[in-house]
Amino acid sequence: MRADTLTPDQLAQIDSLIEAMTWEEKLNQIQVTFKMSQEECLEAARSGIGALFWPGSARDTNALQKAAIEESAHGIPLLIGLDVIHGFRTIFPTPLAMAASFAPKLAQASARASAEEARSNGVNWTFSPMVDTSRDPRWGRVVEGFGEDPLVNSAFGAAMVRGYQGEKLDSSSLMAACAKHYVGYGAAEGGRDYNTVDMSTRRLRDVYLPPFRQCVEAGAATVMASFNTMNGRPMHAHKALLTEVLKEEYGFEGFIVGDASGVENLIPHGVAANMEQAAIMSLSAGLDMEMGGKLYEDGHALLTEPDPALVERVNEACRRVLGVKFALGLFDNPYIPEDAEILEPREDHRATARQMAEQCPVLLTNNGTLPVAPTFSGKILLAGPAADSRDHLGAWVQRMGVEPEVSLKDTLAAALPQAQITVRAHENPLAISDEDIAEIRGCAADYDLILLALSEPSDLSGEASSRADIRLPGNQDRLVEAACESDTPVVVVLVNGRPLDISAWAHLPAAILEAWHLGITGPEVIADILTGHINPSGRLPMAFPRSVGQLPAAYDARENTGRPPSRAGSIEPKNFDFAVDGPTNIAEFFTSKYRDLDLGPLFPFGHGLSYSPITVEKVQVRTPTLAIAEMNKGACIQVEVTLTNEGDVPADYSLLVFTHDILSSLAPAVRRLAAFVKVGIPAGGTIHETVDIPASALAFWEESTGAPVIEAGEFEVLIEGDPNQEPPRFTLV
Ligand code: BGC
Repeated sequence: MRADTLTPDQLAQIDSLIEAMTWEEKLNQIQVTFKMSQEECLEAARSGIGALFWPGSARDTNALQKAAIEESAHGIPLLIGLDVIHGFRTIFPTPLAMAASFAPKLAQASARASAEEARSNGVNWTFSPMVDTSRDPRWGRVVEGFGEDPLVNSAFGAAMVRGYQGEKLDSSSLMAACAKHYVGYGAAEGGRDYNTVDMSTRRLRDVYLPPFRQCVEAGAATVMASFNTMNGRPMHAHKALLTEVLKEEYGFEGFIVGDASGVENLIPHGVAANMEQAAIMSLSAGLDMEMGGKLYEDGHALLTEPDPALVERVNEACRRVLGVKFALGLFDNPYIPEDAEILEPREDHRATARQMAEQCPVLLTNNGTLPVAPTFSGKILLAGPAADSRDHLGAWVQRMGVEPEVSLKDTLAAALPQAQITVRAHENPLAISDEDIAEIRGCAADYDLILLALSEPSDLSGEASSRADIRLPGNQDRLVEAACESDTPVVVVLVNGRPLDISAWAHLPAAILEAWHLGITGPEVIADILTGHINPSGRLPMAFPRSVGQLPAAYDARENTGRPPSRAGSIEPKNFDFAVDGPTNIAEFFTSKYRDLDLGPLFPFGHGLSYSPITVEKVQVRTPTLAIAEMNKGACIQVEVTLTNEGDVPADYSLLVFTHDILSSLAPAVRRLAAFVKVGIPAGGTIHETVDIPASALAFWEESTGAPVIEAGEFEVLIEGDPNQEPPRFTLV
C-alpha cells in the first residue's frame, strides 16, 4: 500500500465510518479470529469482526460477506485470510526451493497464479511472503523463506508481493500480501522455533530489515509481527521497530497484524500480567490487528475506553484496516462468482508450476554419471522413501493442495523406457531396518545403476519443526553407505525441506541432486533432470553445513576476523609451545576455525552444477571509479561478464556477483552478494552480460549516525570462475 493508493473519496468514507463506530466496534474490526464453525463465523461477521480465516469455499465466504454487509452495524466487508504460502490448489515449489532458481520473475508468476486460485475461492488476504533471512537450517521454517541472503530475500519477497497484489489491488483475481515475520524471527537462537533473538543494530539493519523494506516498497498491504523477542522486547510490543521503523521510516501505509496469539503470548513472555495489559502494550506499540480474537469476545470488548492516546491509536489501526479493504475493492465488490471457483489445479497454473520447478533443483555433485541417457537399457534399482511417494508438496500446504498424480517410479519408467527398473520403496524413512540395509548391500552389484530417492518428509520442516540433528531422518545415511559399497554407480536424489547435514556420505555417490519439495510437478521434473531433458540450473540459497556444530555457515555471516584461517585445523597434539615459540604460529594455529572440521560449509551458498560447463571468459569493471554522490542519485557500478557454454546443451545460468570492501570502518563481510541475474546460454554460445551494482548493495548501517553509509575506497568484485589473476576492483570517491 502506498500513500496514494486510496482516493480522497475513500479516505473520507473511512473517516466517516470511524466517526460512526463505537469503541467496541472498532476493537472488533481490528481482530482476526482462528478457524471456527461456519455458524460461529456468521455470528462473528454479524457482530462486525474485521477478518476471518477462510471458511472453505466461495459459497461459505459469500455467506459471511453477506452477513457482514447486510447484518453488521456498519456493513463493512470482511478480510478473509489464509496461509497461501506456495500455492492454493496448484502447489509450487517451496519458497526455499524457489530461491534456488535465482529467478524471482518466476516466483512472481507463481504468486499470481496462487492469487487467482485462492481469490476465486474467496481468500482475499494471504499470509505470505515470508522474508525472514534464515541462517540456521535447524529452524524448520527455513523452508518458507528464501534462504540466507538478504538481497535474495528482498528480490523474491518483492516479486511475490507484486505477484499477489498486481499493479492495482482492486481486481477480483488478486489478494493482499503479508510480509512476515517482522522482524528477526529467522535468527531464533539455536534454530529453535519461537526462541529468543538478540542482535546488534547493524545486523538487524543490514541483514534482517532490508527484505521488509523491499516488500513495503513493492506495496505490501500488510506485515505480520513475529513471535520472537528482539533484545529482550517481544516484537508484538516493540514500538521502535513497529512504529518508528516500519511505519514512520519506511512509510508503510498498510496494517500490521499480530501472529497467532502473539498478543496473548506477551503473558508467557513475562512482559504483560494479563490479556488486557498485553492488548494495550501491542496496540500502543503500533500493532493494528490482533490474531486470535482476544480483543472482543462473547459480545464484549476486552478494553473499556481508556486514555485518549490509545483511542487515537485504535482509530488509526481501524483506518489502516479499512484502508486495505478499500484498496481491495471489497466495498464495491465483496462477493465472488461462485460458479468461477477454481476447484482443481488449472492447466496454465500447472505449466507455471512446472516452469518454476524446472529451475529449482541443485546438482550438488556429479562425476559424469548424470544425465542418464534416455536410451539407457541396463538394470536400475530405484530405492528409498521418495522412490514411490507422492510427498513432494512440502510444508505449509493446506488440504486443498493437490499432490502429484504419479511418483518418481512412474515418471522414471516413462523417461527411461528401455531400462529394467526394480523398485524397492522404503515407504517410511523412520522404519528402514538393518534388514533393508543388508538387502541393498547384498544386491547392489547386480545393477548397472542405483537411484536412491531419499526424503525428509514434508511434515518434518515448517513451523515448530526445528531439528537438532539435520541428517536425513531414519537410517537413510546407512542406506547410501551400503549402496556405495559396490562398484555400481549410485545417484542420490534428495527430496527435502531444508539444507541437510550429508557430510558423512556426500563423497560416496556418483552424483547428488538436491530436488527439494518441488510441488505438484516434482516427480516429472526430477525424472527430466535425471535423464537430461532439463539441464539443472539451481544454486543453493543456503549453505549445506559440514556439521551442525559449525552453524551458522552462511557465507556472509562471517567478517574477516582478525585471524582468518588459511587451512583447516587438526586434532593432532600441538607440536609447539606458544609461550616459548611466540605468536609465529598464528597463521597455522591461532586462527578462526574448528580443530576438528575442514574450513567452510560442505556446499556453500551459490553452489550448483550444470550438465554444460559454463566458463567465465572475462570479468571487466566498466565503471572503475564512481562518485558516491552519483551512486546516491541512482548511478550504478557496472560489471561486464563474458560467459561461454562449453557444453552441447543449452544452459540457464545464475550469475552471482559478490563484492568485498577492502578497507572499511566496520569489519566487512568476507563476501557480499551485490547483484544476481539468471541468463540463458545456448549450447556452445557466448554471451556478454552487464550487471548493475546499486548503492544499496554497498552501503552498511552506521550506528553513530543512525543511517546507512557508503564509504569511499576500493572494492573487489568476486565472481566464481573469474579468470583474472586478481579480482577486478572499483573505487568509490
Ligand atoms: C504462523 C504464521 C501464520 C499464522 C496463521 C502462525 O502460527 O507463525 O506464519 O501465518 O500462524 O496461520
